[in-house]
Amino acid sequence: MSSTFQLDTSTSRANPTPAPLKRLTIPAIRARKAAGVTAEPIVMLTAYTARQAQLLDAHCDLLLVGDSLGQVIYGLPSSLPVTLDMMIAHGAAVVRGSWHSAVLVDMPFGTYEGSKEQAFASAAQILKETGAAGVKLEGGEAMAETVAFLTRRGIPVMGHVGLTPQAVNVLGGYNARGRSDAEAEKIVTDARALDQAGAFAIVIEGVVEPIAIAATQAVSCPTIGIGASAQCDGQVLVTEDMLGMFERVPRFVRRYEELAETIAGAAQRYAADVRARAFPGDEQTYQPKKG
Ligand code: KIV
Repeated sequence: MSSTFQLDTSTSRANPTPAPLKRLTIPAIRARKAAGVTAEPIVMLTAYTARQAQLLDAHCDLLLVGDSLGQVIYGLPSSLPVTLDMMIAHGAAVVRGSWHSAVLVDMPFGTYEGSKEQAFASAAQILKETGAAGVKLEGGEAMAETVAFLTRRGIPVMGHVGLTPQAVNVLGGYNARGRSDAEAEKIVTDARALDQAGAFAIVIEGVVEPIAIAATQAVSCPTIGIGASAQCDGQVLVTEDMLGMFERVPRFVRRYEELAETIAGAAQRYAADVRARAFPGDEQTYQPKKG
């Protein structure tokens, strides 16, 4: 099927008509787990830019504009300084760059924990200004009332339990959770509370495998694992991690490319060409018309 493109001058986006793919909906993703079984695991990756979204979109079910962009894009020491404005700018870019995946935007630290009303105002602003389909927020039992409040008011929420990076100062680091009985019990209780509150899916991050499996079996909605278990109902990775953009990656990451080497190698060859006056060459330079 061939598409024609129309330039939207306000966004510089070339919109194809007809759109190449149909956008997945949150109810369709929620329905992938039925009677405790997810026949086809849910594929989620992070995306922060329009071009990245264009490249990932056709292969994913969900694109997450994660607050990990604080470290990955902005070089911040953690996700704590990330603001609503940053999430909205990147969220809108990812929505513009995708046609198929449902796009979720992380609620940044300090924009939802104060009260369920604060959470609604922040989440509504995200949905209005980005066009995303839903939000993700961290925390279990303590956030259940907020998740129910948002869901009942038309905002789909993905929960996030286990290693919750916004709570790094309370957790004391980024180590895997669920090694003690108390921690293990809390993770399953948190997942249950979010499920009962109406979360359409739950990220389980950095959790020892048996507890990730127990939490997955304990909830009716799909779980999305990261550093958890292949038995979760889906998986997510930070795209830059799986592309090999960083020297150091957590052990739960599988690197599908070594892009850091590719990019540094290209920069090295370009620099050598410039210093040798070998770039630009004839093909890259404009000459006056002859005659
Ligand atoms: O911020 C993020 O990218 C995330 C994923 C790692 C789940 O929360």
